[in-house]
Amino acid sequence: MCGIIGAVSERNVLAILLEGLKRLEYRGYDSAGVALIVADGKIKRKRALGKVQVLVDKTTQDKNLKGITGIAHTRWATHGEPSENNAHPHLSGSGKIAIVHNGIIENFMQLKTELIAQGVQFQSQTDTEVIVHLLEKSWDKNKDFITNVHAVIKKLKGAYGLAVMHVDFPHSLVAVRSGSPIVIGYGIGENFISSDTLSLLPVTNRFAFLDEGDMVLIEQGKIEIYDHSGVSKQLEIKELDQIQDAASKGRYKHYMQKEIFEQPQVIANTFSNCISFDNEIIVDKFGIESNLLFSQVEHVKIVACGTSFHAGLVAKYWIEEYAKVSVDIEIASEFRYRNSVVTKNSLFITVSQSGETADTLAALRQAKTCGYLKTLAICNMPNSSMVREADLVFMTQAGIEMGVASTKAFTTQLVAFILFAVALGKAKQTLTKTKEQEILKALKKVPEIIKKVLSLDKEIEQLSYNFVEKQHALFLGRGMQYPVALEGALKLKEISYIHAEAYPAGELKHGPLALVDKEMPIIAVAPNDALLEKLESNLQEVQARGGELYVFADHAISQSLQIDSKHTFVIDSIPEVLAPIVFTIPLQLFSYHVAVQKGTDVDQPRNLAKSVTVE
Ligand code: G6P
Repeated sequence: MCGIIGAVSERNVLAILLEGLKRLEYRGYDSAGVALIVADGKIKRKRALGKVQVLVDKTTQDKNLKGITGIAHTRWATHGEPSENNAHPHLSGSGKIAIVHNGIIENFMQLKTELIAQGVQFQSQTDTEVIVHLLEKSWDKNKDFITNVHAVIKKLKGAYGLAVMHVDFPHSLVAVRSGSPIVIGYGIGENFISSDTLSLLPVTNRFAFLDEGDMVLIEQGKIEIYDHSGVSKQLEIKELDQIQDAASKGRYKHYMQKEIFEQPQVIANTFSNCISFDNEIIVDKFGIESNLLFSQVEHVKIVACGTSFHAGLVAKYWIEEYAKVSVDIEIASEFRYRNSVVTKNSLFITVSQSGETADTLAALRQAKTCGYLKTLAICNMPNSSMVREADLVFMTQAGIEMGVASTKAFTTQLVAFILFAVALGKAKQTLTKTKEQEILKALKKVPEIIKKVLSLDKEIEQLSYNFVEKQHALFLGRGMQYPVALEGALKLKEISYIHAEAYPAGELKHGPLALVDKEMPIIAVAPNDALLEKLESNLQEVQARGGELYVFADHAISQSLQIDSKHTFVIDSIPEVLAPIVFTIPLQLFSYHVAVQKGTDVDQPRNLAKSVTVE
């Protein structure tokens, strides 16, 4: 994780770097730092433990912290506790070189031992610090900046997005990409590098994306790019047309709240180009000739992490139901380290909000070498590594998601998957035209249904009042609602720090029922579907043992269960197929309100980061 940014300009770059860090904070927020080449030609550094704002407050007290070349970093600790000492930038012993790093240097211990034997003194516990000492040791005055950096990175194993500054080159920066993303921002009389485009949107909308192994040298009016072997290359410059101001919360208290309320719109944006006027799927939205490809698919493998994994779990129900194609789904960090069997004519799908999650990206790269028919990425970030590397791409249209806990990205992934299931079913002729039209017509109504659910926000807030003191919670669902329950439990854990587990309700008797007493709240996701009666029996079993029920249901169940109305949330009946999308919303709001009342950091919960670019 971690976010890095660098700038070379005609003006003081401090404000640019600090604003960039605020926008990169979703990648890590336990400490931050900045280094500039200041008026006397030396490097001046400021670091702070805690959020970027602490660093901002500290830098404003130092009127001499000004420079036209600088680098900065926001950290998610891997090696070494969060502390000012472990915060980046790291400096070489002479203070002439500064670096910021996103990633992990796997062979750092061996390198550190060698450097210590040569008399180098380390200032931090980080893996990163070895790089700056290696640079100093091997720096050759006759070589240019790029050649010096190139010589050192050959010794590194692991993942790195790196930016280097040297006082002998006061108008230049060098950045390298190996495993962690680096984007170049093209300005006027100034140029930038960063971990993402969002951090640079206040200063430019023209970007190029380094490929694996690439290095770049940036100066005020010059950019030179080299591949891993040092050969000069060109990259396409992309102009981002929609400069979205995701960095503003508008009238909302938190990004997460804003993003929950954006769902009607972003869901509509995700399906609108994919459904024809007469409610038929436009299969080509998954890529040219995907109709032909899909007709050959005999198995689907889905690989993802976190919330995106939960979207894949729901997808299994839809794909097997409508396309009659078997699906298996696996956590990316598990998939990449075992020898799995590739079934004939399998389509490999990665799902990812960021398109940069290290394990999911590694899984995609692995899949490309082991005999899958094709790879498809369902992703929310255009120009991300996964989008560039997968054979086929489907873009969700969630817009930039700032809250670390994913909300709108998840529901738009569900929309992508229902569209995919229909497209696959159509290509394989397992879905009748009538059924296809029925599903897609229902999908078009989802934004309005969600608006109604959102209008009950106050009711859900009330429901959450009883919950604040709880230490544990059990989420239950059956069928497609089981992954929804998993996602509900994850949201509660992430932002309110309440321990939560999810179970398929039928498994209750096989263990979790032992946990049920009056201290254990049970949250049930209970739409009126084919498994409702069975779920009701499970809930009766809970009530009989004194468990406290919180039920998210539609009218059918609310009448048959004798539940305290203070603990029920009832919405209008909806088509069964779409229940996972709709029932996710009240669970998001519920977790949100519990967290607000607990006073946690809703948008940046402790120890987490939005984009997990280390394994
Ligand atoms: C992190 C985020 C989650 C996200 C997961 C996978 O853990 O906090 O919200 O679901 O990574 O991220 P991806 O970008 O691949 O969907």
